[in-house]
Amino acid sequence: MAQRLHQAGYHVVAHYRTQTPEIQALTEMGIDTLQADLASAEQVLAFAEILSERYHTFRALIHNASSFERTSDDLNIAAEQYQQFFTVHMLAPFLLNQRLQSQLKTADGAPADIIHITDINVENPTPDFDIYGTTKAGLHNMTLALAKKFAPEIKVNAVAPGPVLFTRQHSQETITQMLAETPLAREGGAEPVYLAVQSILDNPFLTGCSIPVDGGRRLSKR
Ligand SMILES: NC(=O)c1ccc[n+]([C@@H]2O[C@H](COP(=O)([O-])OP(=O)(O)OC[C@H]3O[C@@H](n4cnc5c(N)ncnc54)[C@H](OP(=O)(O)O)[C@@H]3O)[C@@H](O)[C@H]2O)c1
Repeated sequence: MAQRLHQAGYHVVAHYRTQTPEIQALTEMGIDTLQADLASAEQVLAFAEILSERYHTFRALIHNASSFERTSDDLNIAAEQYQQFFTVHMLAPFLLNQRLQSQLKTADGAPADIIHITDINVENPTPDFDIYGTTKAGLHNMTLALAKKFAPEIKVNAVAPGPVLFTRQHSQETITQMLAETPLAREGGAEPVYLAVQSILDNPFLTGCSIPVDGGRRLSKR
């Protein structure tokens, strides 16, 4: 997404936690890359301060960072997962949005953008991943609340991916089942997510919306 927005002419600031060859490639491409762990309110607010001081205005904030794990059967571990998922999916976007709100502006005075990357799970949850889904649902609700709160200066929308990129959390059996439940029957890739983000940026009269990018899986997901 950072690469495609850069190609589209935006000055992109890409946040990451772990340095990887992909992050290095973004830096070499001319994208500003900033490291921060969004693991606590203090760390998020310190990162927001750096962003606020370093950049005068922002055309858009896109919240993509996420933790994705099956809910543990061990309640002590599940309690830690709740705290971690709540912090990255809800608290970090909330604090960054609030802190940078006054710097969200466009060159022509049209509304700026906040975009939350959520999940089709927010409406049709997967029980084994209920902590993940619950905290993403909180982010979905925040989309609606901030769309009201930040209007008319800022539009706030969500993009809700379905099976776009399989991860190590997905077994071969799960992948086969997910594809069987997806009307368009394939792994979507990152490009359709970028296209949904771009369509939100291009549309000045869209707020409080969620665009599913899921090949139709929300219609048939068990
Ligand atoms: N993959 C899919 O098919 C799919 C389906 C539905 C929804 N989504 C949503 O689409 C977005 C992108 O998906 P993805 O599969 O690329 O996500 P991902 O790999 O699970 O996570 C995205 C990034 O979040 C970062 N992150 C996690 N905890 C963090 C923290 N405490 N501080 C800073 N960064 C942190 C990770 O950094 P590290 O590199 O350091 O781990 C990772 O690079 C996510 O919001 C996800 O929920 C994806």
